[in-house]
Amino acid sequence: MRLSRYFLPVLKENPAEAQIVSHRYMLRAGMIKQQTAGIYSWLPLGFKVLRKLENIVHEEQQRAGHIPLLMPTLQSADLWRESGRYDDYGEEMLRITDRHGRDMLYGPTNEEVITDIFRAHVSSYKDLPLTLYHIQWKFRDEIRPRFGVMRGREFFMKDGYTFDLTKEDALHAYNRHLVSYLRTYERMGLQALPMRADSGPIGGDDTHEFLVLADTGESEVFYDNAVTDIRLGAREIDYDDKPQCQSIMEEFTALYARTDETHDEALFNQIPEARRRSARGIEVGQIFYFGTKYSEPMGATVQGPDGKPVPVHMGSHGIGVSRLVGAIIEASHDDKGIIWPEGVTPFHCGIVNLKQGDEDVDAACNQIYAALRAVGLDPLYDDRKERAGGKFATMDLIGLPWRITVGPRGLKNGVVELTSRRTGESVEMSAEEAVKKVAEIYQPHHEASPHWEPMAKRSFHTWM
Ligand SMILES: Nc1ncnc2c1ncn2[C@@H]1O[C@H](COP(=O)(O)OP(=O)(O)O)[C@@H](O)[C@H]1O
Ligand SMILES: [Mg+2]
Repeated sequence: MRLSRYFLPVLKENPAEAQIVSHRYMLRAGMIKQQTAGIYSWLPLGFKVLRKLENIVHEEQQRAGHIPLLMPTLQSADLWRESGRYDDYGEEMLRITDRHGRDMLYGPTNEEVITDIFRAHVSSYKDLPLTLYHIQWKFRDEIRPRFGVMRGREFFMKDGYTFDLTKEDALHAYNRHLVSYLRTYERMGLQALPMRADSGPIGGDDTHEFLVLADTGESEVFYDNAVTDIRLGAREIDYDDKPQCQSIMEEFTALYARTDETHDEALFNQIPEARRRSARGIEVGQIFYFGTKYSEPMGATVQGPDGKPVPVHMGSHGIGVSRLVGAIIEASHDDKGIIWPEGVTPFHCGIVNLKQGDEDVDAACNQIYAALRAVGLDPLYDDRKERAGGKFATMDLIGLPWRITVGPRGLKNGVVELTSRRTGESVEMSAEEAVKKVAEIYQPHHEASPHWEPMAKRSFHTWM
């Protein structure tokens, strides 16, 4: 993409309404525009990041054997009357009446709809286990939407639903989700710690939330600092291997890590004092096992091996995809702007032309641009007639992890500059070397991005 032809409405001033850094930078970098309280348009740069996160979530869900589908945003109130949640859900549910006077709602979650699909089409234990998921817009009429996309009213969420014959199988589905979520967040360059949580309005026994530590987080958390040393890394995972998933779950949840709702002061105080931490965190996902809570009232049963009907054991598992855009920025920025991890960056590399209109500089930039695209990368070339200072400020604000700077003086010596956004370090090298270096960084299994795979092999919606 050439910046002169792109739509990147950056703001020079700090927007007064933004209280936290991710909201401020998302507005300033032209990623989102608020349309009304808690409801945003995703402008091209923001939309690109959102799609990248969506793709990672799809890839990791399907790697774990989970099956995508798409359920509607608008739902019938009758289904929610069956589960008993229509009255329970309260003011957060946006209730709508259609022209025939029928009660509808904008889905805040999808347990009822998925259970309805299940009971219509699945009747035998032989069809289990089954995990269906979608990534769809949700609406919750939050009393106080704030912090931009972090607590919106309309937000984009992955929600997956597991159906199993027995509790034991359902707990494997739970563990499988925990492992696939860890992998998902690590690919996004994030550490999200699973913490024992409270089940809230969905109800259930077993639940963990995934929290990204950040001072601006809305949740209060307590943990043993040793949990922050555990990484999934590039280890091979077989999602059908029950003992392996179980042992990874235990590895990540054995140490004390809880949100304030389940915090237990006595247990916490058993941790060596030097490792005790209380902090704030952003909830970016949650997994639940809730047994037969919906299958029983809604009649989602299968015929068991003995021919008798049994209600299925269910779980639901969510990732806050739109919230993650903000969470990643909270975890990765400096006073100049965003610093995207390689796995989610909207463009892989920026190209800054220091003397637009200079024949040699323009030609060198065009060559670099073409060479990056030829290796499957997606560069953003700032080809505007602007001062160097303004170009650097824009690149720093929008946070591309790598930048190649091309100017007349360097070119005379046969060099351009390759700059890391994270460290600020610049190295001079030939244009060919710079392209090669950037291509290497984005190679799969490179240490900076363990699970990154080259774009060239992928279409826009690779998961289809
Ligand atoms: N108002 C919101 N705005 C943005 N993301 C949200 C919002 N509410 C929930 N999410 C995201 O969706 C994920 C799954 O939702 P859920 O666990 O049902 O939410 P909650 O715990 O807030 O009731 C959460 O972990 C969070 O990341
Ligand atoms: Mg939650």
